[in-house]
Amino acid sequence: MPKQNIYDNDTFFTDFKKIRRNRVNFNDLLETPVLMKMLPDLKGRSVLDIGCGMGQHAMQYATLGAERVLGIDISTKMLAYARENNSAECITYRNMAMEDLDQIEDRFDVVTSSLVFDYIEDFEDLMKKIHRLMNDDAVLVFSTSHPMATAYNGKYPRFTRNKSGERLYANICDYADEGRREIYWMVNGYELYHRTLSSMINGMISAGFRIEECHESAASPELLKEEPAMFGGTRHRPDFIFFRCSRA
Ligand SMILES: C[S@@+](CC[C@H](N)C(=O)[O-])C[C@H]1O[C@@H](n2cnc3c(N)ncnc32)[C@H](O)[C@@H]1O
Repeated sequence: MPKQNIYDNDTFFTDFKKIRRNRVNFNDLLETPVLMKMLPDLKGRSVLDIGCGMGQHAMQYATLGAERVLGIDISTKMLAYARENNSAECITYRNMAMEDLDQIEDRFDVVTSSLVFDYIEDFEDLMKKIHRLMNDDAVLVFSTSHPMATAYNGKYPRFTRNKSGERLYANICDYADEGRREIYWMVNGYELYHRTLSSMINGMISAGFRIEECHESAASPELLKEEPAMFGGTRHRPDFIFFRCSRA
């Protein structure tokens, strides 16, 4: 399969930027706080951020004292934004696909990735490539879409609602059928790869990782009260899953 680079599509990039800049968004309120808590102390450490996008995370790692941060991404538009808005002396941005991680000569103390592994076809191969890039005591901390959220085909609403629009339960579809799914998200033909939870876990284990921590996203009662329309669905099924792994 050719690598998708939807973030360089003008419409998609413009709309994604709007979502990311909105004060209320899933990344800043639901995903990033969990991921940040799972990271080790970054002072003096080398960090690889896979699919760094617009560089918000790389900038936070620099602020937290990382000695150097390499952010890689397939999208030239996302990287141009990162270089313009989230630059620091210790950050390098590089245009490359995660499928080509074996071209990196360096080793890292911390490897992170936020909501990027949805786009990888061969998860186990990716885990093996990451494992080779890590120093002995390094950790991998990542988030990705939850398998219950990617078990969706775009042909029905994600939630069944009552007459007043309240979400009653989540709809999931063909959970056991792994592979490429094409749905509408800001543009037609948005592609991601659905895999089961056991495939993810076994991919990490066979690459040589030991899973140290796992979390699933859900809005806090406070956030739910503040933004029920946005986050109401998060109580029915998790949007994101998070892992911290060390080299076994
Ligand atoms: C949902 S965004 C997340 C960006 C950033 N990590 C964040 O949390 O703000 C997904 C990112 O993955 C990048 N991406 C998608 N496929 C990729 C691939 N094959 N290799 C590297 N980056 C990829 C996209 O260009 C985009 O910047």
